[in-house]
Amino acid sequence: MLYRSKKGNTAHGQLLTLSMASACLLVASCSNDNSAANVDDAELSSLVTAAGLTGDPTTGRTLPDVTDAKAKLGKKLFYSKGLGGDDDSACVTCHHPSLGGGDDLSMSIGVGAEMPDLLGPGRFHDTAAVGYDGSPPVPRNAPTTFNIALWDQALFHDGRVESIGKTAGKNGDDGSGIRTPDSAFGVADPDAGSTLTAAQSRFPITSPEEMRGFIFQVGNTNAELRTALEVKLTNSGWGTHFAMAYGDSAVTHQRIAEAIGEFERSQVFVDSPWKAYVEGDKTAISESAKRGATMFFSSIGDGGANCTSCHAGDFFTDEQYHVLATPQIGRGEGDGSSGNDDFGRFRESNVAADMYRFRTATLLNVEVTGPWGHAGAYTELENMVRHMLNPAEAIANYDFNQLDPNAGIQSGDMLINAQLALGQLEANRTNKVSGVHQNVEFTEDDVTDLVEFLKALTDPCVKDRSCLAPWIPQGMGSGPDGLKLDAVDSTGALL
Ligand code: HEC
Ligand code: HEC
Repeated sequence: MLYRSKKGNTAHGQLLTLSMASACLLVASCSNDNSAANVDDAELSSLVTAAGLTGDPTTGRTLPDVTDAKAKLGKKLFYSKGLGGDDDSACVTCHHPSLGGGDDLSMSIGVGAEMPDLLGPGRFHDTAAVGYDGSPPVPRNAPTTFNIALWDQALFHDGRVESIGKTAGKNGDDGSGIRTPDSAFGVADPDAGSTLTAAQSRFPITSPEEMRGFIFQVGNTNAELRTALEVKLTNSGWGTHFAMAYGDSAVTHQRIAEAIGEFERSQVFVDSPWKAYVEGDKTAISESAKRGATMFFSSIGDGGANCTSCHAGDFFTDEQYHVLATPQIGRGEGDGSSGNDDFGRFRESNVAADMYRFRTATLLNVEVTGPWGHAGAYTELENMVRHMLNPAEAIANYDFNQLDPNAGIQSGDMLINAQLALGQLEANRTNKVSGVHQNVEFTEDDVTDLVEFLKALTDPCVKDRSCLAPWIPQGMGSGPDGLKLDAVDSTGALL
């Protein structure tokens, strides 16, 4: 199963020599130094089959089209600043298709931006805005909304919107209910709606930093806020648009959530070169990507990196929580002695073993969803990969200069926070916690190959503005309430 030379020098190295011998029996192209040897497609295929992949993560799912009536209403809502308390922040502010379904920032900036319609690098907070203290107010990196319909267990980095039943292929829609921040841990929220996506969309509007602002409905409950938004939208002309999707003009928060959810669920981008490769086109990806794939799917004992133990299946996530100790920059969630740490899944479950665990990210289209990590600390994909191979080494080598010097991101406690998370990782290794991350020995060529493999997970559509056009309502007027966000980048060009 070995496919390249290693810098192994320990017991690990001996193991590799043994497996090298057996691999040479199988691999025709095997030579003395096979660091750049061609990958045997049959061998890679057997790894892929063993990992249970079919190539297509959408199999067995019912997914909406962006032209469906509810998705069309959802698109208008997703782009409307009218859902923001001060009319200055929309869902798309942090989840724009041209920015990989995210915002291309380490930490999101929602309300109170200098220029509300400027998205991505160059988006700054207005220093005079209410509630601003000099640093990005949102404590985590915005994940992509692409392929959101493929999650079955949980949304958010800490899984605080989660399906009780977790049936595969259902996006939470399996009849057992969905727990949200409005209900206790483990208890279904009766108002969650049927999909994880609809359930999640009920919460950004409640966050002062993301959308609500610091004046609108301040001090009121989430339910009161949602009712106030129903009234606001009804009074600003949305009724006829709801009628097109629902047959009558009632604006309800359930309909708002469902329509936004259906628009997001139509953002399916899975036609990658990797899918073509798994489905039989052996020329679809490069040799380097094949080497990266072999490493990704091979066990550490076989000289691989075992990434698939967590990034499992065709959606490249086990939807479980693990300690990886990615750099904790930003204001965090107010946890720990530094006051700007983030305890991750522990914040929800209160189970000690969940300390510093975060949900395994999907890797589909990961090339375009940076910065990476739950706090957006890595701005280069290859450095994120280095972290996954050896977290402690990556923390020691972390380059603070990669953070935008004008963004005011707190990073003074990063090493203190990291030491605690790395300590938790070491303790889990010592206690042989199941599925715990293990360090991998690697060369620079390995990093290149893994990054090439990850780039093969990109659906070309997400890098093609014309292909993304159905998800970006440009040139269609200013929306039902005159508050449509027509996004521009820092040069003023339309996104
Ligand atoms: C100010 C930026 C901002 C705005 C505005 C915003 N989001 Fe997000 N979104 C985030 C961040 C940050 C997270 C991750 C939060 C966490 O995990 O704690 C997130 C998480 C999500 C997720 C979960 C993704 C995943 O992989 O689990 C979805 C879906 C989502 N947002 C949709 C929306 C919708 C719908 C709206 C509008 C109603 C919206 N967002 C508004 C920043 C934003
Ligand atoms: C023990 C489980 C585990 C293993 C093994 C693992 N990962 Fe991860 N990976 C995670 C978790 C959890 C996250 C999210 C970490 C965070 O947000 O702080 C993640 C995040 C990532 C990200 C960033 C995604 C994003 O959108 O920010 C990349 C890229 C990645 N992993 C690649 C890999 C590669 C390549 C390997 C093998 C070398 C690997 N991972 C091995 C659990 C794992």
